[in-house]
Amino acid sequence: MEQKGKHKEETFLQHPVLFIVVLVFGFVLMDPFEIGPVGGIEFRPVKHDIAPYKEVMASWPRDNKSRLGNGKLEFVDEVFGPESLEFDGFGRGPYTGLADGRIVRWMGEDIGWETFAILCARGVDSTTSKQWKHEKWCGRPLGLRFHKDSGDLYIADAYYGLLVVGPGGGLATPLATHVEGKQILFANDLDIHKNGSIFFTDTSRKYNRVVTYRRLLSRYHFFILLEGETTGRILRYDPPTKTTHVVLDGLAFPNGIQLSKDQSFLLFTETSNCRHFPFSFFRSFKLMKYWVEGPRAGTTELVAHLPGFPDNVRINDKGQFWVAIDCCRTQAQEILVHNPWMRSLYFRLPIKMKILARIMGMKMYTVISLFNENGEIVEVLEDRKGVVMKLVSEVREVEGKLWIGTVAHNHIATLSYP
Ligand SMILES: *[C@@H]1O[C@H](CO)[C@@H](O)[C@H](O)[C@H]1NC(C)=O
Ligand SMILES: *[C@@H]1O[C@H](CO)[C@@H](O)[C@H](O)[C@H]1NC(C)=O
Repeated sequence: MEQKGKHKEETFLQHPVLFIVVLVFGFVLMDPFEIGPVGGIEFRPVKHDIAPYKEVMASWPRDNKSRLGNGKLEFVDEVFGPESLEFDGFGRGPYTGLADGRIVRWMGEDIGWETFAILCARGVDSTTSKQWKHEKWCGRPLGLRFHKDSGDLYIADAYYGLLVVGPGGGLATPLATHVEGKQILFANDLDIHKNGSIFFTDTSRKYNRVVTYRRLLSRYHFFILLEGETTGRILRYDPPTKTTHVVLDGLAFPNGIQLSKDQSFLLFTETSNCRHFPFSFFRSFKLMKYWVEGPRAGTTELVAHLPGFPDNVRINDKGQFWVAIDCCRTQAQEILVHNPWMRSLYFRLPIKMKILARIMGMKMYTVISLFNENGEIVEVLEDRKGVVMKLVSEVREVEGKLWIGTVAHNHIATLSYP
């Protein structure tokens, strides 16, 4: 889009209006007072490979009855930011990780929620809506999985890496905090292979989830997707040797991870998780497959382009995969995605991010979808008006019921299914 050779210096300087326009333009670009969302941060957007908006939206099945809107909000104001929902071998639960760094479990009406595990000894025992500001003090447990045989609970924490706590709960023990000599900055989700190895996502090598930075907390978390950087990885922790290995590198905000029923492959989402700013523009919107075993072992392939921003993937009893998606992409977003220079300019405008997002026509609602083993869409449930949920993190199907977690809100949604 560059126009070359048209500007002669004399003519240019002789045009005062043009000169001023260029000055203002340059001023905005440099943003010396750091008013714009990316002010004061080294920000180098890269170009993304994203399926055309129309193509994805046209082929994506719709839930015209907006059935997810019939769901029920439960535990309102009792849990803040329950991203991952897990049930133990006795069927108790859900267990979930909260914004205050605790892992709590639901023990039925009589007992209610009780603290099951904490990630650091000085863990707080309260949940407030502002807790995310302090989450780096004592962790932010995101992905949770029970080991079926041992009953141990494995935890992917955004600050502490991979941890484990015994079936009785208590203080969690760190397992993987470093890989290749460097700290793991942003563990996000995990799954356990039948041989005991833990596959987990490390969302970024560059930023962690919340870094205190000038006026705005949580900024870095946000920059991953503005910039579209691709330093995310899938890691594997092998308990017998207590070693951590890089399985896949160069991913764009890898998020949820789920092994298939026969464990021949795993699915992961390339996404972003910018929930404190409910407008995440430049995620990668992909459901990917990594072959763990068999003739294609070690290779990845695309399963689906998604209409919005995916988070966790969870298997059901039939071996199908529930993917939680925040909807939807917009056309304006697409233009920015394909033009890093425009994006760079747009987000340097000295305008609040909220307004920039509104200009782009972002409105959030929830879509959850079920994929079969071949990557075909089996079911799509929408909450188009955002009645029940605006942001979803995970869908767990347990005995005729869907449990839906959200990293950004203070409730859990449920829906009878099928
Ligand atoms: C939903 O509505 C759209 C048009 O509004 C239509 O094209 C589509 O076929 C409908 N889908 C179903 C499953 O009825
Ligand atoms: C478990 O299986 C995976 C996939 O084949 C392999 O990479 C890993 O090394 C195995 N772990 C152990 C402890 O054998």
